[in-house]
Amino acid sequence: MIKKVIISPSILSADFCNLERDIKLVESAGADWLHIDVMDGHFVPNITIGIPVVESIRKVTSMPLDVHLMIEKPEKYIEVFAKAGADILTFHYEAVSDIKPIIDLIKSYNIKAGLSIKPKTPAQVVFPYLKDLDLVLIMTVEPGFGGQKFILDCADKIPLIKEKASESLIIQVDGGINSETAGICTSYGANSLVAGNYIYKSADINAAIKSLL
Ligand code: DX5
Ligand code: ZN
Repeated sequence: MIKKVIISPSILSADFCNLERDIKLVESAGADWLHIDVMDGHFVPNITIGIPVVESIRKVTSMPLDVHLMIEKPEKYIEVFAKAGADILTFHYEAVSDIKPIIDLIKSYNIKAGLSIKPKTPAQVVFPYLKDLDLVLIMTVEPGFGGQKFILDCADKIPLIKEKASESLIIQVDGGINSETAGICTSYGANSLVAGNYIYKSADINAAIKSLL
């Protein structure tokens, strides 16, 4: 059986005046999930998408909504994002002091729980939580903005985590993913790729998505 790689286009690079159109474009091109970057201007120096937008997106697509919380105090917002329609909720290791209760809280809504690490955070910090997590998100750029350059060193964390994890863990990478860096990450064991700029700024979205596989 060929192992499936989950492609999750990031709408951060979409045209927000034509968001429904841009969501349907990636859906019909065969994307698996839709990646939604939530930023609060505190955890990262940018402010993006909030709860009402997630609610609206939920109404126009059946793709699983892969919500990446780049916010402080994520525990305060798990319930509202789960009720807004998130299928995967990923929060940052660096944003909280007590990880396990937040994983449990996310899973209490019967959705997938993800934990993300920034480029300077070592892979080892996620090890104690691997048995509880559905997904680990390895940032391959500093979180905050689309269109940045892939940091190759971050890919070294993929095999370290894969070696400790069960077969079912989703290892996702996010930041600077294109046809070349995707190949590096999947060869190291990543099985979910987030891509914003590469997909949405491409002249042929279908071809761009296929070139990641
Ligand atoms: C960055 C976000 C990413 C971003 C990726 O903080 O988490 O999801 O949209 O954008 P690209 O693929 O353009 O690097
Ligand atoms: Zn993201």
